[in-house]
Amino acid sequence: MRLIGRAQRRTDQGRDGVAAGTAFTFRAPGGTAAQLSRVESRLRAVAATPDERLAELALHGIEAGGKRLRPALVVCAATAVGGGDAVGERVIDAATAVELLHLASLYHDDVLDAAPLRRGRPSVNALWGNHAAVLGGDVLLAHAYAVAASLGTAELRRLAHTLTALCSGQIAESAAQYDVARDLAHYDAAIRGKTATLLATSCWLGGWTAGASPPLAEALACFGMELGVAFQIVDDVLDLYGLSLQTGKAAGSDLRAGVFTLPVLMTLQRDPGLVELLTTEIDEDGVAEVGRRVRAAGADRRAIALALDHLEIAFGHLRDPLLLAEGVALLAKLAGLVVEPLKRLGVGGDGRIRAARRRNEVDVA
Ligand code: IPE
Ligand code: IPE
Ligand code: MG
Ligand code: MG
Repeated sequence: MRLIGRAQRRTDQGRDGVAAGTAFTFRAPGGTAAQLSRVESRLRAVAATPDERLAELALHGIEAGGKRLRPALVVCAATAVGGGDAVGERVIDAATAVELLHLASLYHDDVLDAAPLRRGRPSVNALWGNHAAVLGGDVLLAHAYAVAASLGTAELRRLAHTLTALCSGQIAESAAQYDVARDLAHYDAAIRGKTATLLATSCWLGGWTAGASPPLAEALACFGMELGVAFQIVDDVLDLYGLSLQTGKAAGSDLRAGVFTLPVLMTLQRDPGLVELLTTEIDEDGVAEVGRRVRAAGADRRAIALALDHLEIAFGHLRDPLLLAEGVALLAKLAGLVVEPLKRLGVGGDGRIRAARRRNEVDVA
C-alpha cells in the first residue's frame, strides 16, 4: 500500500465528487482507498439534510477535504484486528462519526482562534460569521451522534466522553491564553484533551467495531493517544513557521490567539525576553521574529524531538502479538505521515523514526 501526504491542488472535480480547492490531503490507495471512499459517500449523505442552509454549512467543511486522518486510523485499526475483511458497515460508520466530530471541533476552533482559513478555504466564520460557525459545528455534532447511535451504547458513550475531554483540553488552553508562565505539563494535558483523545478514540473504535477484546482495543487507543500528542506538537511547530500552502491554514494563528505552544514555551525557558513580543498586538513581523528566536534557542528541534519520543512510545503499543502485521504496517505508515510535514522545515527526523520502528519491530506498509 502507498500513502502520500502532501499538499494537493485540485483544479477539477476530484475523487468522489470532491469539489475543487486546495487541501492538505493524505491519499490512501489500494484497499484502504476504497474503504475511505465509502466514508466520503457516507459523510456527504449524512450532511445532505432537507434544510438546505444546514446542508450547505455542513458540506462546506466536508467538501474541502482534509487529511481524513481519523477515519484512516479507524480503518487501519480495524484492519489490524481482523484484516481487510473486518472493515464492514460498522467500521465505516465509526470512521464517519469521528470525522464529523472532528470537523465540528474545527468549526468551533476557528471561532475561538478567529482563524480565517481552513482546509485551504475561507473558514465558516470568515465566510458567514461566528453564529453560522457555531451552529454549523453543532449540526455536525448532531450528525456524529446520530451515526454513532447505530453502533451501540458503548461506542456512543466513548464518543461522548471524547467530546468532554476535547472541551476540557480546549478550556484549559483558553484559560492559559497569554500566560507566559504556562508550563509544559499544562500544555501536555491540554493537547491530550483537545486533540489526542480523539485519535485514541478513532483507534479504539476501529479495533472495537472489528471485534477486538477490551484490552486489545485499549492498546490501540494508547497508540492513538501518543500519536495524537506527536501530531499536535507537529501542528504547533508548523503554525509557527507559516507553511500555509501545505497546511491550508493561516500561519501564526496560535500566537495571534495568545496560545503559547510547546516551541514558544521551551524558548521562554532560555530567552525570557521573548515575553515582550507575546502581546495582543503581535503582527506578521512579530510572528516571524518569534519564529527566529525559537530557532535560535533550538526550541523547534527540541519540540520535534519530543514529538518523536511520543511516536516511539506509540510504536511500542503496536507490539501486541494479537495485532495483525498488515494493519500494524498501515498504522505505522500513517504515523510516519503525521510527522512528514516536518521535512519541509529541514528537520524530518526520518532516521529516528526508522530506528524507532526497528526497535519496536514495526514494519511499514
Ligand atoms: C486539525 O486537524 C486540528 C488539530 C488537531 C491540529 P487536522 O490537521 O487533522 O485537520 P484536517 O482534518 O486535515 O483538516
Ligand atoms: C486543535 O486546535 C484542536 C481542536 C480543533 C479542538 P488548534 O487550534 O491547534 O488546531 P488548528 O491548528 O487550528 O487546526
Ligand atoms: Mg486553531
Ligand atoms: Mg485552537
